[in-house]
This record gives sequence, C-alpha cells and structure tokens, in this order.
Amino acid sequence: MRVAIAAAEVGDDVYGEDPTVNALEARVAALFGHEAAMFTPTGSMANQTAVQLLVPPGDEMLCDADAHLVTYEIGATAAIGGISTRTWPAVGGDIDVDAVAAMVRPAGYYAVPTRAIAVEQTHNRGGGAVIPLSTLEGLRAVADANGLAVHCDGARIWHAHIADGVPLDTYGRLFDTLSVCLSKGLGAPIGSLVVSSAERIARARVIRKRLGGGMRQVGVLAAAGDYALTHHLARLADDHARARRLAEALAPFGVVDAERVRSNVVPLDLRKSTVDSATFAAAAREQGVLVSVLGPRAGRLLTHLDVDDDGIDRAIEVLTGILRS
Ligand SMILES: Cc1ncc(COP(=O)(O)O)c(C=O)c1O
Repeated sequence: MRVAIAAAEVGDDVYGEDPTVNALEARVAALFGHEAAMFTPTGSMANQTAVQLLVPPGDEMLCDADAHLVTYEIGATAAIGGISTRTWPAVGGDIDVDAVAAMVRPAGYYAVPTRAIAVEQTHNRGGGAVIPLSTLEGLRAVADANGLAVHCDGARIWHAHIADGVPLDTYGRLFDTLSVCLSKGLGAPIGSLVVSSAERIARARVIRKRLGGGMRQVGVLAAAGDYALTHHLARLADDHARARRLAEALAPFGVVDAERVRSNVVPLDLRKSTVDSATFAAAAREQGVLVSVLGPRAGRLLTHLDVDDDGIDRAIEVLTGILRS
C-alpha cells in the first residue's frame, strides 16, 4: 500500500483533475451499480453529505437509536444539516420493518415531513450485525410506498457482502445514497466515499466543499483505498473467522453470545461479570490487548488485518485470564 501511495499519479481534485481519485470514484460507483461516487476524508463526512442530499433542513430522517449517525457524529445531522432525526429502538442490528412504516408521518404542513430512512450495514453498536437482505428490501418497499429516500451507512458494508454473500450491487440498488469506508476493515489510512446518482454526486461536491472537504493532490489517499479494495476485500473472511474464534473462547464466561458474531465485531456484555468495562479494558490494555468501552458494562472487540492468529491466541489468553481472576 505504501508503494501504491508513493507511485500515485495526482492532480488537483478540487478541479476534478486527480486521475487516481477519479478512477477510484468510478470503480466504487460501479461496484454498487450506481452512476457516481465522491471521495471524502471520513465516513462521518460521507454520511453527513449523504443525508443533506436527501433531507432538507427542518425535515426528518428515521434511523435507529444506536446508529452511528446519531451516536458518534456529535449532532452534525442537526447542527450542520438542520435535519430532525427520529429513532426507532435498536434491536441488536435487525429492524422491525412494520414499526418503521408506522413512524412515517402523514403528509400535511403541520407536521415535520419524513423524507428518509437511514440504516447501518453492518451495524457497529449492534455488534457487527448483518442486517438481512429481506429486511432491507422491506424497508425499501416502505420507502417507495411513502415517497422516502433510503441512505445506507455502509462503513462496513464490505463485511456484510463477505458474511452473507450478497453482491455489492444488490445492496447498492436498494439505496439512494451509500457511504462506504476504506479506512475500517479494508485497512486504508483514510478515505470514504458517497455513492449515488450523477445528479446527487454533483450536489454532493458542493456540500463537501462547504464542509471543508475539498482536497487537492489527494490521489495519494485514493491509491491506498484502491489498493485496499484490490487486496483486502476477500480477506475479511479471515477477520470474521478470528472474531468467531475469539467469541467462542469468551462465551463460557457469559460475556459474549458467540452465535451473534457474524462479522469482525465481538460485542462484550459485562452485566453479569464481576468487572465493569472500564476496569476490564484497563487490565487488558496493560497486557497489550485493546478493548473499546461502549458503556459501563458494554465493550467491543474488533478483528482487523493487523491481528493474526497468534494475536487472537494472545487476546484469548489475556482476556480469559482477566475474566477468571
Ligand atoms: C458505522 C459507522 N459509520 C460511520 C463511521 C464514521 O467513520 P469516520 O470515523 O471515518 O468518520 C464509523 C466509524 O467508526 C462507523 O462505525
């Protein structure tokens, strides 16, 4: 990847003149069966750009209460986009389609117009859950019946594709906009894309510029993303298998439901454990194993291309040691 970065041909992307960025955008748009795509520095900027494309200020977007869009984007949907969000209760990654349909407000000037539904695939706080294709199709039908758009926060949609074997363009066709990240499991240092129609992506370039995301010789980063797509997509299956092995080793301690682990996320539920998540994470860090703290009794383990089989053995040894003590 470093070699690809060094060799990248570059130009000024604000003028649309960076050939490496242009090629990556065309490649990713085609993967999802869409007309166009636009490179952004972060997944958050890709999400915020996409939702601004779909929902005018003052109008409303539906999503789940654990969505990255409403949990980790620091209120940007409201603060920058002026968009109201209304959430359905998160149910561990899957979605009650009828409940979402019931949330859509009837037309009328006196109520906030519902404009879009946002989903997350795979679902980060849902423990890396892969939302079933049939659920997503059901949501698309609800959206079509009500004239709504559907956005997919597909930061980790690559994992859903590998886990369920659903082609990327099958997912792509279900959504009006997608955000996809090259900097998560695919292992690029930076980079996400918004994927949509040519008309929307033309508007997206204005929104990105307004957000301060117009970048110059950024082909060095696009080259890393292109390398990641070529070399690191199929190998996500290894990360999934390692996550499952880690989950199965921790399951006897009652802190993981191994059956729920479908991708590279291992959600930790420490409610029945003697340690809270901060204490658990601190003890693990001291021994070189990093654990994310999601709540007082909730944590997250994640596998990625820098963690090999020996790393998983080591993590199992350290984490089971803490749980035994
Ligand atoms: C589901 C999901 N969406 C979006 C993002 C945002 O990505 P970034 O950190 O590049 O802004 C993340 C980051 O972890 C994520 O997990």
